[in-house]
Amino acid sequence: MESDKKRFHDHSQAREYDRKAAGSDFRVRLTPMLLEALEIRGPEWVLDLAAGTGRFARPVANHLEGGRVVGLDEALAMLRVALEQNEKEPIPGFLPAAGAAETFPFRAGVFDRAFTALALHHFGHPSLILREVRRVLKPDGSFVIVDPVVPPARDSLDKAVHELINEIFRHGHGEHFHYYSTADIEELLTGAGFRAVRSNLCVMSVDQDGMEGVPTGRHWLEVAEQIRQAAPEMRRRFEEKYFRYEKKDDIVHVRGNFTLALVSGRNQ
Ligand SMILES: C[S@@+](CC[C@H](N)C(=O)[O-])C[C@H]1O[C@@H](n2cnc3c(N)ncnc32)[C@H](O)[C@@H]1O
Repeated sequence: MESDKKRFHDHSQAREYDRKAAGSDFRVRLTPMLLEALEIRGPEWVLDLAAGTGRFARPVANHLEGGRVVGLDEALAMLRVALEQNEKEPIPGFLPAAGAAETFPFRAGVFDRAFTALALHHFGHPSLILREVRRVLKPDGSFVIVDPVVPPARDSLDKAVHELINEIFRHGHGEHFHYYSTADIEELLTGAGFRAVRSNLCVMSVDQDGMEGVPTGRHWLEVAEQIRQAAPEMRRRFEEKYFRYEKKDDIVHVRGNFTLALVSGRNQ
């Protein structure tokens, strides 16, 4: 597997990421959910943490009436694509910022809202980052995490499948890669001192040829291929809770569910 994090630092791959993101159905579904969870009221300051090419910053900025969206990302190539898009069609009030989420270049208490989309699973130090988010939020400010999630663990077999998935992903994506369950994300938020934590799910049911439109789809298929070599009960549980696939010639047919969670908390 090619490391996801590396590709964010390459300009042509960042452009390709943006091209796919622009036509993605799940983003169309997630955007109103994100706007609702953010509860923006008027000309607020919003932090888009790990903003990438600004595909969520844009609808959030369009929703603000006179506020600002600060898009922080450590990958200059992704921010450069955001700026190229901004030149073609301005993202109102968008301020790109280069930097790592672990050490924010911001003063305490400056943001009304914050969100991070499709990035938590890349963060090496999530607890530290969440505490940083709390520091830069105003009292009563809200923070929304959007990320793919694994289903809740019912028993030890579910936990073993979850661990194996993350182990396989880590081989190709670096030691920090981690897909959480919704409950894990809620725990991360409360652990960092957020309160009134609540979650919404966006379930994508697929029955299609190929992985087009599934977040990290190509890599999920690689994971499923490796799980086929694991113990039969692991494979069965994976197919029951995640997805199954059949290969005919060069076509892969996929049937199952992929879930994204929007988990929000308030600063206290
Ligand atoms: C899958 S992209 C998501 C981008 C954007 N939020 C979106 O929804 O399109 C993940 C982004 O997280 C950024 N990222 C990962 N770890 C980071 C960190 N520690 N600090 C800042 N950015 C980070 C990457 O550079 C990349 O742009």
